[in-house]
Amino acid sequence: MAYLLGVDIGTGGARALLIREDGLPVASATSEYPLYQPYPQWAEQEPADWWKGAVEAVRAVLAQSGVAPDAIRALGLSGQMHGVVLLDDAHKVLRRSIIWADQRSQAQCDWITERIGAQRLIERTSNPALTGFSAPKLLWVRDNEPGVFEQTRKCLLPKDYIRFRLTGEFATEVSDASGTSLFDVQGRDWAWDMVDGLGLDRDLLPPAFESPVVSGRLSRSAAEETGLPVGLPVVGGGGDQAAGAVGNGIVETGIVSSTIGTSGVVFAFTDAPRRDDKGRLQTFCHAVPGKWHVMGVTQGAGLSLRWFRDNFGEAETATARWLGTDPYDLLSREAERAPLGCEGLLWLPYLMGERAPVLDAEARGLLFGVTARHDRAMVVRAIMEGVVYSLRDSLDIMREEMQVPVTQVRASGGGARSPLWRQMQADVFGVETITLHVTEGPAYGVALLAAVGAGLYDTVAEACAATIKPMDVQQPDPAHKAIYDQYYQVYTSLYPALKERFHQVAGLVRQYQ
Ligand code: XUL
Repeated sequence: MAYLLGVDIGTGGARALLIREDGLPVASATSEYPLYQPYPQWAEQEPADWWKGAVEAVRAVLAQSGVAPDAIRALGLSGQMHGVVLLDDAHKVLRRSIIWADQRSQAQCDWITERIGAQRLIERTSNPALTGFSAPKLLWVRDNEPGVFEQTRKCLLPKDYIRFRLTGEFATEVSDASGTSLFDVQGRDWAWDMVDGLGLDRDLLPPAFESPVVSGRLSRSAAEETGLPVGLPVVGGGGDQAAGAVGNGIVETGIVSSTIGTSGVVFAFTDAPRRDDKGRLQTFCHAVPGKWHVMGVTQGAGLSLRWFRDNFGEAETATARWLGTDPYDLLSREAERAPLGCEGLLWLPYLMGERAPVLDAEARGLLFGVTARHDRAMVVRAIMEGVVYSLRDSLDIMREEMQVPVTQVRASGGGARSPLWRQMQADVFGVETITLHVTEGPAYGVALLAAVGAGLYDTVAEACAATIKPMDVQQPDPAHKAIYDQYYQVYTSLYPALKERFHQVAGLVRQYQ
């Protein structure tokens, strides 16, 4: 039996997952590391922590599984996207990595948009410049830490720094490179005219491969540190969203994933690059060679329910502790008692501003339509419904404006554990919604890419078909959909009506902070 290893450099920790060639997970381990937030809007991590975490997780998996390292045929890397790791000419890390969640670079986004032109930026990179993306972070360093910028010889994405530590090679792959603002998503290579136009040195960027391609082999020193065999092939891998999608089998037209974690993501496979000219959804290369994906991100999806649990859910938290269950299971069961539509109670989940399709860092959450009849169960259910409406908001742009077919939704993330939340997705989207037998996320996806790179499967689609099995199917109920449709119309009218008020309040908060 051959084995494959997936390593995911997440924000909370590094995760290693060992699977058999038939897809069965054998062992997994996570090693956590800190997130530094020295100022509001800043988010940084130490690349050395990622490396230490990756080594610990891999060693733990080897020890746990008892699998002989020589039986592992290839390794795939996935990771949090968009962060920048800056190396000097001796390949030393120059500063902490500014990561995806960091919002300090609005001035640099404005500069890029003005210099390149908003329309041309979307034409060349398929997306607007966002504070989350890499180039604005690199330019922030140019503007604020010129000494560091002058010494910078290489700019790598998080997982690609780990690749460098594993193999000594500088390389990236198309799905992660898509989130840099420097990548020609349509042409699947660096947009050199963008790189030149922004005054950046072309040598900063590593070559970009397709995701299942072997990009390097394990060096002797990395083999000694990790316990893996010298020469182990390391495939391109993928950014966490594309990698997670491979793990969910989102590798053919019509299949879309809806993931409710802290944030919520709807992710659709596309055969050709489809972009939203208004830049409301992101268009990136998929980890499937020659294919693309579109994605909409709700910042505060599971976060909405966590906010309720942490501030008002003491009773559920205490009961869950006593029963040895999860407070979210109790909240979900409580919400089942509330009527569909919650007698007109609606929730806008913009607790962390919003990214898609509303692109507004100052948008705020809202509980709308409260009456004296509303109770706790209805509030919980309204929160769950509001999160699903926000995902539909992105899904509707995909299917109605971008002509992306949507025939099946695969629910994943913590939100997929709730039967109510899953049925709500089927009813609100009006599409069959299924869950899968494995919920291992990005590390699983890149282990499958590694299986393709090792030649165990010919294509990513073949690897997914052989390993991923649907477990549970929920069909939309037409009567429920008809009611949800009407509340959804009200939901979509709330943000435009309140946009100016949100900005006014944000101004007041800045003034009196
Ligand atoms: C994707 C994104 C997140 C990060 C962190 O665009 O910002 O998925 O990769 O997980």
